[in-house]
Amino acid sequence: MNKRAIRVFAAAALFAPLLAFGQKNSCVECHSQLDDELKAPAAALAADIHAEFGLSCKDCHGGDPSQDDVDLAKDRTFRGSPKRQDIPQFCGACHADAAAMRAFNPALRTDQLSQYWTSRHGLLLKAGDTKAAVCTDCHGVHGIQSAKYPKSLTFPWNIPQTCGRCHADKAFMEPYRLPTGQLEDYKASVHARALLEKKDLSAPACNDCHGNHGAFPPSVSSVASVCRQCHPSTGELFMKSPHKKAFDEMGAGECEACHGNHKILVPSTAMIGTDDGATCAQCHDKGSRGFEAAAEFRRQLDGFESGFRAAEGLLAQAKQKGVEVSDVEFKLQDVNTLLVSAKNLTHGLDGAEIAKAVSEGEKALVGVRELGEKALDEARFRRRGLAVTTALLALFGVALALKIRHMTRGRVDKSRRVE
Ligand code: HEC
Ligand code: HEC
Ligand code: HEC
Ligand code: HEC
Ligand code: HEC
Ligand code: HEC
Ligand code: HEC
Ligand code: HEC
Ligand code: HEC
Repeated sequence: MNKRAIRVFAAAALFAPLLAFGQKNSCVECHSQLDDELKAPAAALAADIHAEFGLSCKDCHGGDPSQDDVDLAKDRTFRGSPKRQDIPQFCGACHADAAAMRAFNPALRTDQLSQYWTSRHGLLLKAGDTKAAVCTDCHGVHGIQSAKYPKSLTFPWNIPQTCGRCHADKAFMEPYRLPTGQLEDYKASVHARALLEKKDLSAPACNDCHGNHGAFPPSVSSVASVCRQCHPSTGELFMKSPHKKAFDEMGAGECEACHGNHKILVPSTAMIGTDDGATCAQCHDKGSRGFEAAAEFRRQLDGFESGFRAAEGLLAQAKQKGVEVSDVEFKLQDVNTLLVSAKNLTHGLDGAEIAKAVSEGEKALVGVRELGEKALDEARFRRRGLAVTTALLALFGVALALKIRHMTRGRVDKSRRVE
């Protein structure tokens, strides 16, 4: 290829999207020459999902892209830039039209607009408050990407920031008398640690608990339904427990009453019990059945856990002394599963169930402890064996030395005699 051909080829590649549709696009051509916010849309559109599907300026704004003249390009079909309060309808013109969207992607949902009008954001906008989030606040304007792209504003890692831009802004939220600590609290939670640090996409961002388009706080009596999507066994136990009805009656937020909502921390057995710091003591007074149960659950779990730690220590000791214990470690792992499930069972508040799980676990621990003791015995036996061998070797060494001395002395005597 000569230089000229390369240049033509490069230009063709650059304008491939235009050539692909065999159309002139004066909107891009002219806006690329303009400044700042008039130029930005033309530059950003290249990375936009709409451009990927062959859509361009005219599909959202109208106008005639075959005309170079501004006035001819902005013909009667030109809609201009939508006002903020009109944006949901503007985007919904396509996204709520199932027939139109089917031509592009039959699997894409088309309920965003109808959901949006049911959200706190939508209700507020309808009431004339343009500070409510509209489509472009969460998706961007030019340069919109699918939530599947890690750079998208709606990719799980980026969502806390996308929502926090308004919700963590004290001045912006001031008129609503809403707390603004959600982002900061969330960032300190087990969920944020999993999502943002461990990059575990199964951990929730704001939208997993609030919905994307229908964003609302879950009502107190449906928090468990939100959490149980990802914590099914815990959710099921809670729903069957006496707490379900009691919490709904007292207006306490299900899982939230004990774990919080945004700042959920690693839970521990210390939360169960009757001392002042314990969660149970916040609601149960001395003498009540809940109080007695809390004390009993704590006693059982503490007993199981300290037995578990002792067995763990035993194996660590044996391992340090060089005994192979990996088989026993596997058995201990099984006991750990029983311990975790016994802890989980506290959500059901069924004393008999908890006692059963604890006794099964403690029985398994007896076996592990026996094997651990045996491993330690083996270590002791080996050490004793080693001591005896060392002593024997030392004895042998001394005997050998004596013998050698004896023999060489004999030789010296002989040589003297020859002299
Ligand atoms: C020859 C240059 C030229 C062409 C061609 C052109 N524009 Fe523009 N466009 C401008 C200029 C200059 C402005 C800013 C002044 C104005 O608002 O009229 C503008 C403004 C806009 C605005 C903002 C208007 C508002 O309401 O705030 C939009 C949206 C827009 N153009 C879209 C388009 C689209 C879509 C096309 C193609 C159909 C197009 N432009 C073609 C030069 C052009
Ligand atoms: C997916 C729909 C969509 C496409 C495609 C699109 N725009 Fe826009 N554009 C919008 C929306 C919505 C706004 C209003 C943004 C706002 O007010 O926050 C806007 C605003 C604008 C503005 C006003 C300045 C600004 O940034 O607020 C200009 C100029 C503009 N668009 C030009 C273009 C040009 C040129 C193209 C093609 C390169 C284009 N747009 C493609 C949706 C689109
Ligand atoms: C002219 C019709 C049209 C308009 C107007 C339009 N879109 Fe789209 N949009 C599409 C099509 C077609 C796709 C590609 C379908 C797909 O992504 O599978 C798409 C894709 C998307 C996606 C990615 C969906 C995904 O995950 O695959 C988002 C997000 C989106 N649009 C948001 C918006 C927003 C916000 C607006 C308003 C500023 C808007 N759209 C206006 C037609 C439109
Ligand atoms: C409060 C933020 C927010 C607002 C407002 C919002 N979206 Fe979304 N949208 C999201 C999030 C988050 C996702 C990604 C969901 C996921 O993880 O798949 C999404 C996904 C989408 C998708 C992909 C398909 C789907 O439904 O999952 C489309 C299309 C879309 N939004 C269009 C719109 C339109 C049109 C509007 C305005 C009527 C709008 N969105 C308003 C946050 C928002
Ligand atoms: C453009 C700013 C903005 C963005 C971005 C935004 N919000 Fe909002 N949000 C608001 C405003 C304003 C309110 C109204 C406060 C009220 O309820 O009176 C609100 C209300 C809410 C409420 C209802 C609170 C209540 O108790 O009334 C929830 C829940 C919510 N937003 C969640 C989200 C989530 C989740 C995201 C991100 C996916 C998000 N918001 C993004 C501005 C925003
Ligand atoms: C693990 C689930 C979960 C996650 C993740 C989550 N929330 Fe919430 N959020 C809740 C619950 C539960 C409530 C309280 C409902 C109640 O008690 O009325 C709530 C309440 C709210 C409220 C109402 C005001 C308040 O603080 O009580 C807003 C606004 C809000 N959340 C925004 C966010 C934002 C922004 C994020 C992301 C940074 C987020 N939430 C992440 C579960 C969650
Ligand atoms: C989208 C899924 C999802 C939702 C919804 C969710 N969680 Fe989680 N949660 C996770 C994941 C994943 C982890 C694991 C984090 C880790 O330890 O790596 C986790 C961890 C936890 C932990 C700590 C567990 C431990 O052993 O350290 C608690 C407690 C918890 N979540 C409670 C809740 C509550 C309460 C709600 C509802 C308000 C909730 N979760 C909603 C996915 C979710
Ligand atoms: C009455 C208080 C209370 C309620 C209500 C509650 N939890 Fe817990 N949760 C605890 C305590 C206490 C622990 C720690 C148990 C331990 O480590 O001994 C815990 C532990 C957990 C764990 C860690 C691992 C496990 O499975 O035990 C998760 C996950 C969890 N809770 C989720 C939830 C969810 C989801 C809900 C609502 C369906 C909920 N919790 C309701 C007190 C509560
Ligand atoms: C938000 C308040 C609250 C918290 C926190 C709480 N409970 Fe309860 N609990 C109640 C209410 C209300 C009832 C139903 C009335 C009653 O029996 O006292 C109840 C009932 C019970 C019952 C059934 C009692 C019966 O009569 O059969 C048990 C057992 C129980 N709770 C144990 C616990 C334990 C263990 C914890 C800590 C892990 C705990 N509760 C934390 C409010 C709470």
